[in-house]
Amino acid sequence: MPLHRKAKPEADAIVRALLDWFAQAARNLPWRRTRDPYAIWVSEIMLQQTQVKTVIAYWERWMRELPTIQALAEAATERIHKLWEGLGYYTRVRNMQKAAQQIMAGHGGDFPKDYEAILELPGIGRYTAGAIASIAFNEPKAILDGNVIRVLTRLFGIAENPREKETNERLWRLSGELVEMAARFSPEEKGARTRTMGDEERCSHLNQALMELGALVCTPKQPKCLVCPLRSRCIAERTGKVEELPNLGPRMMTTSRRFVAFIMEKDGRFLVRQRPAGVVNAHLWEFPNIELTRANDGSNVARAARKVFGAGVKAAERLCVIKHTITRYRITTDAYRTVATRTAKLSDSAGEWRTLAQLHRLAFPSAQRRILRHISSKAGKEP
Ligand code: ADE
Ligand code: SF4
Repeated sequence: MPLHRKAKPEADAIVRALLDWFAQAARNLPWRRTRDPYAIWVSEIMLQQTQVKTVIAYWERWMRELPTIQALAEAATERIHKLWEGLGYYTRVRNMQKAAQQIMAGHGGDFPKDYEAILELPGIGRYTAGAIASIAFNEPKAILDGNVIRVLTRLFGIAENPREKETNERLWRLSGELVEMAARFSPEEKGARTRTMGDEERCSHLNQALMELGALVCTPKQPKCLVCPLRSRCIAERTGKVEELPNLGPRMMTTSRRFVAFIMEKDGRFLVRQRPAGVVNAHLWEFPNIELTRANDGSNVARAARKVFGAGVKAAERLCVIKHTITRYRITTDAYRTVATRTAKLSDSAGEWRTLAQLHRLAFPSAQRRILRHISSKAGKEP
């Protein structure tokens, strides 16, 4: 049942409570001090997989180094990878550059205002288009991400799995109805702070209030219902279902994977290679490495070394063990100092030799970066 017919007063009160709350509780984040759609776009892409507290420094450096769409469109690939290093999911940054180039070619360098045009840009889906249209242009466009799903399923007591198509569409509709309500909201209506708020910011603030409530109050664990502005209207709170929602279905099973990385040094240079296009972490640099699988003979490091380099290379002592988690994989990487027993054998195709100083200027996936840091700290301690 559409919100505006069945439950208009309710939606009205929810919107008012959210806007009032946002006016006094919003964090003072750097991308909230601008209405530059480019700056907001950069923040939204960074925030897709990374926490606010990590993103702040990345965003500030990015905006300093690439302050305009044109600067991004013309930047060297190595440079944007380096600015993104540590954020992961590098397809995002390459898509941003493609989008910037399309904006230069097709929109005269101005970020498009039209929602459909925004949605056509590479790397911009329904959530990001809605976020940019609402935050930068105050358009009444819906947003739905993990935070907003949590808030809405709890607030409206939605027990179905939000990943299922019908429920997902229902949540998009609810989100859209709230932001449309915000757009229609009359500032003359009785009830406080929202009266003084500019008309030109209500859709922006309503959507950011949903995000912010999910981040600060309606959190995955131990939500702060006692201080929640929606408490009196929240069905999950009223019916004691907060802990059960959202109902995301059975947990994805995690899978353990093991890798070995080989650290070869010759005359102060280290062997590294660049990952090819079309794979995870494409174009980033790494120490030669291989996954240990049952198919390539389990945990035999010597055989793994032969697989990577051919004969004449052997792994010596283990330098460090790096553990990290990405999506459903828990990955352990053992890094071994590696020596060539028949020096002439190593072919050029194994990689390139770089000094530590040069390595620090390249972009590495974060686990590889940690190996590099380990090597540097050891090198620094030696006389
Ligand atoms: N998460 C996604 N977008 C956000 C924003 N604009 N501010 C804070 N957290 C967010
Ligand atoms: Fe979330 Fe609790 Fe607020 Fe309901 S009352 S919206 S469950 S924080």
